[in-house]
Amino acid sequence: MDLSSLPGFRDFYPEQMALRKHIVAVWRSVAERYGFVEYDGPPLEPLDLYVRKSGEEIVGQLYRFTDQGGREVALRPEMTPSFARMVGARAGGLPKPIRWYSVPQLFRYERPQKGRLREHFQLNLDIVGESGDLADSEIVAAAIDMLRGFGLASEDFVARISDRGLVGGLLTAHGVSEAGLGPAFAALDKLDRESEDWVLERLQAAGASEEGARRLLHLAELELDELVAVAGDVPLVREAAARLGRVIQNLESFGLGAYVQFDPSLVRGLAYYTGTVFELWDRRGEFRAICGGGRYDQLLAAVGGPDLPALGFGMGDVVLGELLRARGLVPPEPSAIDDYIICVEPEQRALVLRLTHGLRDRGRRVAYDFASRSVGRQFKAANQAGAERAIVVGPDEAATGVALVRTMASGEEARLSIEKLLEA
Ligand code: HAM
Repeated sequence: MDLSSLPGFRDFYPEQMALRKHIVAVWRSVAERYGFVEYDGPPLEPLDLYVRKSGEEIVGQLYRFTDQGGREVALRPEMTPSFARMVGARAGGLPKPIRWYSVPQLFRYERPQKGRLREHFQLNLDIVGESGDLADSEIVAAAIDMLRGFGLASEDFVARISDRGLVGGLLTAHGVSEAGLGPAFAALDKLDRESEDWVLERLQAAGASEEGARRLLHLAELELDELVAVAGDVPLVREAAARLGRVIQNLESFGLGAYVQFDPSLVRGLAYYTGTVFELWDRRGEFRAICGGGRYDQLLAAVGGPDLPALGFGMGDVVLGELLRARGLVPPEPSAIDDYIICVEPEQRALVLRLTHGLRDRGRRVAYDFASRSVGRQFKAANQAGAERAIVVGPDEAATGVALVRTMASGEEARLSIEKLLEA
């Protein structure tokens, strides 16, 4: 019988757990600096929530089954549909804009590979109820500051940004039908993974002429102002470009201009995006996307909620962990122990337990020996546990009420009253 973990699922041993805790701690701290509050939803949801809202790619990757009550259900592959439903149900009573974040574990049946597993933890940070361009810059700035929070700089990563309205306007102007927009976005999203011919074929299937499809690929290489110069007569394109220009300008005002790059080939794979879209990538191009998000102004209404604009991003722990490891930015594992109490003889056991419990009550992290080992072995154990102090309790200490306290790093020793230790 093979009882190892499933492909694409991780066992978190303490050293992996330490990195996961570090990642989540930085996410939480940056999210809260931006004034976001945390929420969570159920890991299992009605299948329909995704079938109708997420788009084909994710639906093909669902962990789905019929539960014992005959309901069609799926493990959540992303948080946005649950978020849209939850916030939609309460939106009327909440002051706008709503700023919520979450760190759900998500499940997608993908081919396990570098940067892609079948489960991952994903920070989700979203704003609801604001259609102005400042909200777009706020979301992109938060994503950038997440990575800065881990010690990554503008040499390490870039935020590629575009606008679905802009790209949609260009596609429509080149013959792509309304129904063809989704498949055309999905094809452009694969430009970096598929051949040019593969993308051209799909653009044509979506309604573009052969020449139109080629021109679209060429446009995907232009800067924002160049693009406006060649396609500025399409009103949709002109408006979206002006808006995107303001979003980028705001990011420059935040002092984050060095992190931002316009990229018209970026459209994102998910179906619900309507405006700004962006992704964070490592500059050397060694890893998959670190983060992705955008504006989805119609999703809340589509899941039965109020008609409110919304936007946000998701950042997974897998690519981020790989990147931090590659750049030497994984902090050393923190020690689990502050004090190690050394019991010299079994007669001092009761005093050791009293001291241990008293120190724990005061918030110190305390361990002691279970097995009456020699004092030397107990010092070794204190060292291995990374204790800051070893506190020796022997017959003399028990008689005088004064313990020997060794600072492990320096080897310095002092005698401190046990009662004082308990009061500190
Ligand atoms: P997404 O682009 O599908 O967007 O995922 C966002 C991030 O989650 C990716 O950039 C990647 O870091 C991570 N990720 C996704 N799939 C996997 C996987 N199989 N293994 C490891 N990491 C993965 C969304 O999910 C949107 N719901 C994000 C969003 C929130 N948009 C607006 N608000």
